[in-house]
Amino acid sequence: MLPRCAFSVCHVLVLVLCLSAAEDFDWTKNNHGSFYYGTFPAGFSWGAGSSAYQTEGAWDKDGKGLSIWDVFSHKKGKIQQNETGDSSCEGYYKVKDDVSLMKELKLNHYRFSISWPRLIPTGIKSDHINEKGIQYYDELIDHLLENKITPIVTLYHWDLPQVLQEKYGGWQNISMVNYFNDYANLCFEKFGNRVKYWITFNNPWSVAVEGYETGEHAPGLKMRGTGAYRAAHHIIKAHAKVWHTYDTQWRAKQKGLVGISLSGDWGEPVDISNQKDIEAAERYVQFYLGWFATPIFHGDYPQVMKDFIGRKSVQQGLGTSRLPTFSPQEKSYIKGTCDFLGIGHFTTRYITQKNYPSGRSSSSYFTDRDLAELVDPRWPDPGSEWLYSVPWGFRRLLNFVKTQYGNPMIYVTENGVSEKMLCTELCDDWRIQYYKDYINEMLKAIKDGVNVKGYTAWSLLDKFEWDEGFSERFGLYYVDFRNKNKPRYPKASVQFYKRIVSSNGFPNQREVENWRRKAVETCSSSNQLLAAEEQRSTAANILRLIHGKESLVLTINQMKNLI
Ligand code: NOJ
Repeated sequence: MLPRCAFSVCHVLVLVLCLSAAEDFDWTKNNHGSFYYGTFPAGFSWGAGSSAYQTEGAWDKDGKGLSIWDVFSHKKGKIQQNETGDSSCEGYYKVKDDVSLMKELKLNHYRFSISWPRLIPTGIKSDHINEKGIQYYDELIDHLLENKITPIVTLYHWDLPQVLQEKYGGWQNISMVNYFNDYANLCFEKFGNRVKYWITFNNPWSVAVEGYETGEHAPGLKMRGTGAYRAAHHIIKAHAKVWHTYDTQWRAKQKGLVGISLSGDWGEPVDISNQKDIEAAERYVQFYLGWFATPIFHGDYPQVMKDFIGRKSVQQGLGTSRLPTFSPQEKSYIKGTCDFLGIGHFTTRYITQKNYPSGRSSSSYFTDRDLAELVDPRWPDPGSEWLYSVPWGFRRLLNFVKTQYGNPMIYVTENGVSEKMLCTELCDDWRIQYYKDYINEMLKAIKDGVNVKGYTAWSLLDKFEWDEGFSERFGLYYVDFRNKNKPRYPKASVQFYKRIVSSNGFPNQREVENWRRKAVETCSSSNQLLAAEEQRSTAANILRLIHGKESLVLTINQMKNLI
């Protein structure tokens, strides 16, 4: 047993740590170091997330229509290793299993998305509604609620019905606004008695820029300098329309909330004493988060976007700006259509001013911003090449939201980190570090007065990571994609996140370090179990293949697939 005086020394130490952390609350000070021990406000909601195309699989089952991602991923050369989300985690068949993982984590909420073409195969409600699709989401929602897990439901996580792309050009076409509204209305009608948190769009920045500007994502169009702005314009209108539909037709009865989930990296000036860098960093954030948030909170695009794109359009000899405009009626219709703001945040960049010549052929969203992005080589980057761990950027971004948009209610809808390795690495110590530090910065932001109500770890499971296929794993749970049953295994971060959830924060240094130690200890034994299970299933596969073949000679490719 420790002597009494050791306890009091400990207490003093804890107090000193707390006090020094409390001084850190001026977020504009460049003090990134100290950790703040403390808890979140009572009722803070802890969750994990997923999206339909990334996890459900069953791409052509039970009457589901095709989405642009089904078609895009089946084209050769679009996705790493030509992988597809055809079966992914088979989440469609594993509702009960996955809800028990959430129970294990003691989650308060689960964020998932509805696949539009699973409900309405062509995307057009008057064509046909797929009852089996409705049944699937009914079952998922009921099962969550039976387990006291609140569903937070995204209507659009990138899987547009293919028919709408082919017939109308997808988000390039204003007709999407009404089709999307009909679909949303159907969701409110069928699920709104049980779902109280709706997110219209997930990360429309990616839909616009990667779908219609760079073409890295479905539908793979490269309409540089115009496509992204037009897509975003229609998405913002569609969001506003759905918010009004809910407000006028469903809110009184269902008493839910409708928001949007925006993603935003933080942009920090390279040189904080250089006015040009300060302005460039501000532009970076305005062209990212502000592009969508400013119309929704203030009725129009950020002034800096109007100025830069307008000026460059004139220099290019165009009669009007490549950035579309809202009419006065549209502005007031769009303004204020957000009951809560979802924030997806992963990383930060250093930003410096850089001028791009405004030739017509070189126009693009990226050159419109007149800036360059830099990273600090000391920042850890354990997974995706774009994802550097910079926890302090999170606090700054949250404070930016507070000051720019009148301190709205925020749910963090995505935050997490991937890993590059395809091997059976369950001891994800670096992910523990990422969650610990990012969640801590969020806690500091709450102490700064930012109105964050919930946090969603991204993601519950390893899953299809868009153009990266299965090569980047974001999950708290490891999924063995080589095994047909897609078994899930907890990584060490499950143990750690679970502790944060049940303590509603970080009680003190000793406990938090203990959680980490224990998490890493238990994962080494799970790692051995997983390795043994994988050897067993590889051997079983080889035997199955040998029995099914007349010849005992396996081709190199068959061997590769097995190993
Ligand atoms: C944001 C997207 O919404 C999500 O689907 C994706 O998995 C993460 N970024 C990580 O890239």
